Amino acid sequence: MFDTVTTMPKLHKDAGDFMPINGTDYLELYVSNAKQAAHFYKSAMGFKSLAYAGLETGLRDRESYVVEQDKIRLVLTSPLTSGTEIGRHIDQHGDGVKVTALWVDDATYAYKAAMKRGAKSFMTPTVEKDEYGQVVRSGIHTYGDVVHVFVERKDYKGIFLPGYKAWKTSYNPTPVGLKFVDHMVGNVELGKMNEWVKFYQDVMGFTQIMSFDDKEISTEYTALMSKVMSNGNGRIKFPINEPAPGLKKSQVDEYLEFYEGAGVQHIALATDDIIDTVRQLRDRGIEFLQVPSTYYDVLHERVGEIDEDIAPLRELGILVDRDEEGYLLQIFTKTVQARPTMFFEIIQRKGATSFGKGNFKALFEALEREQELRGTL
Ligand code: FE2
Repeated sequence: MFDTVTTMPKLHKDAGDFMPINGTDYLELYVSNAKQAAHFYKSAMGFKSLAYAGLETGLRDRESYVVEQDKIRLVLTSPLTSGTEIGRHIDQHGDGVKVTALWVDDATYAYKAAMKRGAKSFMTPTVEKDEYGQVVRSGIHTYGDVVHVFVERKDYKGIFLPGYKAWKTSYNPTPVGLKFVDHMVGNVELGKMNEWVKFYQDVMGFTQIMSFDDKEISTEYTALMSKVMSNGNGRIKFPINEPAPGLKKSQVDEYLEFYEGAGVQHIALATDDIIDTVRQLRDRGIEFLQVPSTYYDVLHERVGEIDEDIAPLRELGILVDRDEEGYLLQIFTKTVQARPTMFFEIIQRKGATSFGKGNFKALFEALEREQELRGTL
């Protein structure tokens, strides 16, 4: 998660970027109550209604609500009957990310290229059409039950995807300034990190841009290891964590136990004004991990001059870290569903391209205090 530091070559042009990806197209979460989850993302996180698919569009087995904020689209999907794959997923994992959809120019090519390099198929290239044009989607499996769906939408003018209708509602709260998905972190089982690093290198042409070991990310009690994978243009960054042996159960162990397998640990959303964004999120009920106030007493010594006043950072619990290229501000929500599994990071980059290594220790200790309360440390 809070990752870094053996920084590797900046531009990741080497790995043969055979699969150009324009960005994250959408994230689909399987949740037990999509209608209520959509309301949470609107009211608490500033998303607005975009699209809907379900009984009213001819589906009988599931419904999906799509919410949007700037370039971020979340699809919240629930089953309408028993005995579905979606229901099985929720039974095993609780609410969580099923699909990371990647926006590509050619979903057929992306699929074929990945399959040739050893991917496991989730969805063969499929053309979906409606009056607004056509979308081609294909998909492959990654860690756990997570899949990557390639989305080709250059011939589509509709609101989201064929099969969806506009979701019109009179309640659309003002956005909180969230702009795009900065990175998305996966937790994998002990000993599996390098396997998935190799998958992203071999199958998807990604490059490892950073790594850190359990000596760098540890507290007195727990530890983890992480490697950060990036596609060629850097728009897709997937840190991959695995637990490391420690005196007590780490946050990654807790995740794997409650998620019952590997999965998406956190989604980092970028903002241009983290103080304003976090204040709004807090005032709408989002809860954040808090570090001790002493963190701010030594902040200037640690990170040097920054544009922001310390007072609002201290008030809101926003963390700061610096690397060779600049600094970043970040904060982490508490977990956002029944199980202590997935959470969000809010991040503002001011030149820094890393992930906040200087904050690991304070953060992990904050996480351990949460685990302690849950009796899972
Ligand atoms: Fe992160």
